Amino acid sequence: MLRSKISGIGMYVPKNIVTNNDLKKYMDTSDEWIQERTGIIERRYADRTGETTTTMAVEAASIAIERAGITPQDIDFIVFATLSPDYYFPGCGVLLQRAMKMKEIGALDIRNQCSGFVYALSVADQFIRTGTYKNILVIGSEKHSFGLDFSTRGRNISVIFGDGAGAVVLQPTEEEGRGILSTHLHSDGEGAEILAMYNPGTHANHWGHYADFKDAPIAEMFMSHEMIDNAQNFPFMDGPSVFKKAVVKFPEVIMESLSANKLNASDISMLIPHQANLRIAQFVQQKLGLRDHQVYNNIQHYGNTTAASVPIALCEAWEKGKIKEGDLVCLAAFGSGFTWASALLRW
Ligand code: COA
Repeated sequence: MLRSKISGIGMYVPKNIVTNNDLKKYMDTSDEWIQERTGIIERRYADRTGETTTTMAVEAASIAIERAGITPQDIDFIVFATLSPDYYFPGCGVLLQRAMKMKEIGALDIRNQCSGFVYALSVADQFIRTGTYKNILVIGSEKHSFGLDFSTRGRNISVIFGDGAGAVVLQPTEEEGRGILSTHLHSDGEGAEILAMYNPGTHANHWGHYADFKDAPIAEMFMSHEMIDNAQNFPFMDGPSVFKKAVVKFPEVIMESLSANKLNASDISMLIPHQANLRIAQFVQQKLGLRDHQVYNNIQHYGNTTAASVPIALCEAWEKGKIKEGDLVCLAAFGSGFTWASALLRW
């Protein structure tokens, strides 16, 4: 039976470290508030003009490709997850294909926010299992620092997010019990507006979650001075509602992956939860009865890097020797959409 295995992994975070105290220059916040509610101590911000979502992805991908023992020209498919693309369109997949001088291969962009990487991994896994491709590059990359409201008005969101990228190379394996055992994807669009960036968009307030602008010229429905003045071009989040749903869906989707493979929580060698909030991860750990060495968190140093958080945490845990051959690794994510997902793999 053909399965996918991760044969190379890489991560990249910008050099610029931004502490909680640094954020006090822009907004009314405190190190105590941020650490107590989220566990975050610091995050990285990309160089304003020198780094983009794609360039960070290239850094992470180069390491993953080298560790897989191949070259960019060997990659035969790209799956790129981000919510902060360089352009509204085209997506970052083609920009990465160009930057890495790859062949004229397929490049797919995934829009599943915090669950983006696990969704991307699942898509790539299907192409490997069917024998369609042999070297797939799966990426999560985000440059959040460009799209946040740094005034006090946006503080409940802007303190949480950070920049960075993670990438893996997936290859087929016929080794018994090795590689990705299963993936599980879910959504509930009832929560679409609870964590969202409405503008620019084509909604024209159709869904009724927005100030009425029926009489506005079309151009101003997409992006207007009024939207910018009212900070309506920034993400919106009802934090407590996200928290409540996340602490239910995270354990649920992890248990789903375990029971699909007739395994228990105690069998997990390492859980890599999407780094949404340290308090959410701690709640999930407690609910599943996992010990500290079974869960890896690094949100303290990178904040929430959305689609990049799972591959960054996976890479860092592996680099620190916390993931070894034969380990049962569970990846799990929850976020905007709502979407949530898990992947269970034997390293
Ligand atoms: N610094 C200081 N005070 C802040 C603040 C900040 N950065 N952000 C919000 N506050 C204030 C609020 O204005 C509010 O003040 P008030 O009581 O005077 O009105 C108070 O803190 C509590 O706000 P609230 O939003 O209820 O806080 P919370 O306890 O729910 O914590 C989150 C906010 C965002 C940390 C929390 O809801 C959360 O983590 N939710 C999940 C978010 C998440 O994981 N998102 C990513 C999805 S993958």
